[in-house]
Amino acid sequence: MNVAPIPADADVLVRPARNIAGSLRLPGDKSICHRYAMLAALADGETRLENYATGADCASTLDCLRGLGCRIAQQGATVTIHGSGGRLQSPAGVLDCGNSGSTMRMLAGILAAQSFASELAGDDSLLRRPMERIVTPLTRMGATISSGAGGRPPLRIRGGPLRGISYRMPVASAQVKTCLLFAGLLAAGETVLEEPIRTRDHGELATRAFGAELRQDGRTVSIRGGQELRAVSAVVPGDISTAAFFLCAAALFPDSNLVLDGLLLNPTRAAILDFVAGMGTRISMLEVEQTHGELVGTVRVQGSPSLKGGTIAGRLTAAMIDELPVIAAIAPYTESGIEILDAAELRVKESDRISALARNLEAMGAKVEATAEGLRVPGRQTLHGAEVDTCGDHRIAMAFAVAALRASGEVRIRGANAASVSYPAFFPALDSLAQR
Ligand code: S3P
Repeated sequence: MNVAPIPADADVLVRPARNIAGSLRLPGDKSICHRYAMLAALADGETRLENYATGADCASTLDCLRGLGCRIAQQGATVTIHGSGGRLQSPAGVLDCGNSGSTMRMLAGILAAQSFASELAGDDSLLRRPMERIVTPLTRMGATISSGAGGRPPLRIRGGPLRGISYRMPVASAQVKTCLLFAGLLAAGETVLEEPIRTRDHGELATRAFGAELRQDGRTVSIRGGQELRAVSAVVPGDISTAAFFLCAAALFPDSNLVLDGLLLNPTRAAILDFVAGMGTRISMLEVEQTHGELVGTVRVQGSPSLKGGTIAGRLTAAMIDELPVIAAIAPYTESGIEILDAAELRVKESDRISALARNLEAMGAKVEATAEGLRVPGRQTLHGAEVDTCGDHRIAMAFAVAALRASGEVRIRGANAASVSYPAFFPALDSLAQR
């Protein structure tokens, strides 16, 4: 879908709907696109990626790679990356990661091993995000990195030869795991990483797809340095975290019937499908296949007369970290409400998502209790039209567009263009599926 961008200061109005019907194929999964693009830059040969994500975040990754001397051609959603064979070039200026924490954290793992110095910066939101989680282990591997106050960006990285480490990660973060896998790939010896909770495994699958060997044993993954990568040709599966907004929109209405084609179904990401099914929605898989280690398929979602609530805690919180905003936003429409626990990480995402969710739900007339590490939203509530503020956060923008579909009046979304960080066509796509 080609769409005109939403001007930075424009509001979007979302009207209530009767149901969600139709089919949609989403742009490529962001987590996979970042990783494929970075590995392609290191590999030998030319990588071709179809259905590359259309949002600003994955464009930031390509821009940084161009800044490191990679030749990248883009035609629509097809991106061709000429690999450097491991010889990136010293950048002429600061590498701008925009709003993308993934770009900054994962690229830092590669830059730490280069023979030149580099600086990574980003927008105001990114400059507030914690980076000590990568600075500490990369420093142990031999890199010299200075950061801003409180371990925040910008990061100034003096790269050099790295040595493999054994590291027990204190934070459950797939970005950190991938950063260290990339650093480990470029280091001398072996790097062994143990996660507190198993997070998404795209870093592992992508590294294998590009030809490197990894060992996996429960929550531990090890990689040997010095392995060569070879280019791939891939169609990136549709982004399941973006699909979550459409799944939840469909779940709001008994007569919904939505088909999502070519969707990523990686088990470390698909908890949202089980959760929405557990709420009462009927979810069927129509076709499933594997590509470069990733499961992809077609999913049909049909609504149900009532929506059950529930509790999200521990491992489930980690598995659904990007889907929690939309679950919280539809929580008032459930029978028994939703409780989200163990989600302190939500406070350090693109915005403080716990505060942003609580404030906007209250603006729509909902009762909600925010805690240090989560939210409690009672069920059986009626929400009214209101003005909500995205706080510049793509997932807050999209979550409240979904909540608006079952409100009693129109919802004005301020800062709606934040959605373009992950899916510039989000509002027209939602509008085309919403029956009114
Ligand atoms: C991501 C991991 C998660 C997630 C982010 C993408 C990834 O972040 O919230 O949107 O691609 O690895 P953390 O690693 O900080 O948990």
